[in-house]
Amino acid sequence: MSRNSEPPHSRMGSSSGRGFHHLALALLLSSQIQCALSVIFPSTHSSYKFDYLRRSPRLDPINGEAKRTLSKRENPIPLIVTNNCGDTLWPGVATQDGEGPESSGFELASGETRNMTVGPTWAGRVWGRTNCTVSNETATCVTGDCFGLLECEYSGAVPVTLAEFNLAGGDTRRQTFYDISLVDGYNLPLGIVYHPAANTSNIPPNFVNAACIATPGYLMAPNRTGIAYTNSSFPMPYEDSQTNSGISNWCPWDLQAFIPDKPGDGIYPYPDDNVERPVFDPCKSACAASNSAADCCTGDYNDPNVCKRSEYSESAKVVCPDAYSFAYDDQTSTFIIPSGGGWEVVFCPAGRSTNILATYGTQLSALASGGVVTEEMRKLAMNVSYIESVPGSSAPPGHRVSGLALVVTIVVTGLLSL
Ligand SMILES: *[C@@H]1O[C@H](CO)[C@@H](O)[C@H](O)[C@H]1NC(C)=O
Ligand SMILES: *[C@@H]1O[C@H](CO)[C@@H](O)[C@H](O)[C@H]1NC(C)=O
Ligand SMILES: *[C@@H]1O[C@H](CO)[C@@H](O)[C@H](O)[C@H]1NC(C)=O
Ligand SMILES: *[C@@H]1O[C@H](CO)[C@@H](O)[C@H](O)[C@H]1NC(C)=O
Ligand SMILES: *[C@@H]1O[C@H](CO)[C@@H](O)[C@H](O)[C@H]1NC(C)=O
Ligand SMILES: *[C@@H]1O[C@H](CO)[C@@H](O)[C@H](O)[C@H]1NC(C)=O
Ligand SMILES: *[C@@H]1O[C@H](CO)[C@@H](O)[C@H](O)[C@H]1NC(C)=O
Repeated sequence: MSRNSEPPHSRMGSSSGRGFHHLALALLLSSQIQCALSVIFPSTHSSYKFDYLRRSPRLDPINGEAKRTLSKRENPIPLIVTNNCGDTLWPGVATQDGEGPESSGFELASGETRNMTVGPTWAGRVWGRTNCTVSNETATCVTGDCFGLLECEYSGAVPVTLAEFNLAGGDTRRQTFYDISLVDGYNLPLGIVYHPAANTSNIPPNFVNAACIATPGYLMAPNRTGIAYTNSSFPMPYEDSQTNSGISNWCPWDLQAFIPDKPGDGIYPYPDDNVERPVFDPCKSACAASNSAADCCTGDYNDPNVCKRSEYSESAKVVCPDAYSFAYDDQTSTFIIPSGGGWEVVFCPAGRSTNILATYGTQLSALASGGVVTEEMRKLAMNVSYIESVPGSSAPPGHRVSGLALVVTIVVTGLLSL
């Protein structure tokens, strides 16, 4: 494996055949054994911390010598949190490595932004807490609660949408790994906005500013492209099938954190899809709900060839194609870019869920391994016809399989009824 590690998760070009895809997948998976840098396990998973942070010693890539890492004072990296939701939020920040921000938990009114900084080797996560009752230094929250503290010392309670960062990842520690994770569930729409440094300002904004919006009321009208957190020169590729009225049902019924009452419950069966769900409808991940080895990829299932997508994961991937939905996701959920620049986490971002990795995964892989934005990449980033040539909504592989299973079932049923 090369010095600048290839991202273990990258989607092959959409034109590639299935056989090639499987071969490429096998190669990717074997390379993953050597550099398991970005498998996002749920926070309850025994190897969660280990896997997310594992990486090589701090070596200078030129002469192989150990290098001193800069401190936060020498090289502060912006970590900005913005609340674009209609209600007050209480963001939480958990630091797993490096120097954390000025605050690890605070109140943020609707429309407010809080500017903080972290050290250049920071690794950690940011999430939103809702419906908190705050007094003195305690905060008791309906979602995202961190053991009742206002300033969090540990991760938040599930279900939460997470923004995860490892600012100094990869073999050379000169790559930033980040993702939006639904592995611990979903509570709020979340977007990540890159604030480039002088030496990274040529990274196209539509390569990096990922968003996951799966709450009714926050979706822009369906469109293949848009300009939220980018501009008309670099149109953002969007998931284009979800609507504000349709998206409320994505969470499998039993995984809703607060299951609504069904009319006539217990007396006669009532179809779940006919029950109106609340707008704020946090969804537990399959792992968070069942804690089973099969859903959490633990024990015998701690293997990408064995641990499969659950109904939750399939559903989550449809509404948020750029987000992680289970530990061994479809090789399409981690963003890796050269280090430098800062990060903004936006709750309830404008626009729609992005479809960046399916569109520019190949270019992002090349950027991660080569470290430079080529003229060709920038051209493709500005090419609307190219964006429109990529499917705007993609059923994950499991859906295709169940589609096939459905056809088989219909055929078999048809034959039996003859
Ligand atoms: C916070 O950071 C943003 C983006 O870097 C900047 O535009 C804004 O002026 C900063 N706000 C404060 C209060 O420093
Ligand atoms: C809880 O928080 C959510 C998200 O901020 C909000 O939509 C909802 O109205 C709150 N519920 C109550 C009862 O305050
Ligand atoms: C607030 O909490 C701190 C630490 O728990 C405690 O020392 C302090 O006395 C409390 N203040 C009030 C006003 O309760
Ligand atoms: C949809 O995208 C097209 C092309 O990018 C743009 O011209 C149009 O204004 C967009 N529509 C909306 C509602 O944003
Ligand atoms: C769009 O943003 C890029 C950098 O992010 C900038 O170079 C370019 O001038 C912008 N284009 C327009 C039309 O604003
Ligand atoms: C940009 O500069 C920062 C600070 O000197 C450095 O850590 C980072 O590796 C540089 N990034 C690139 C892509 O050269
Ligand atoms: C834009 O992309 C389309 C489809 O991939 C391609 O046919 C076309 O040549 C590209 N245009 C430019 C200017 O690169």
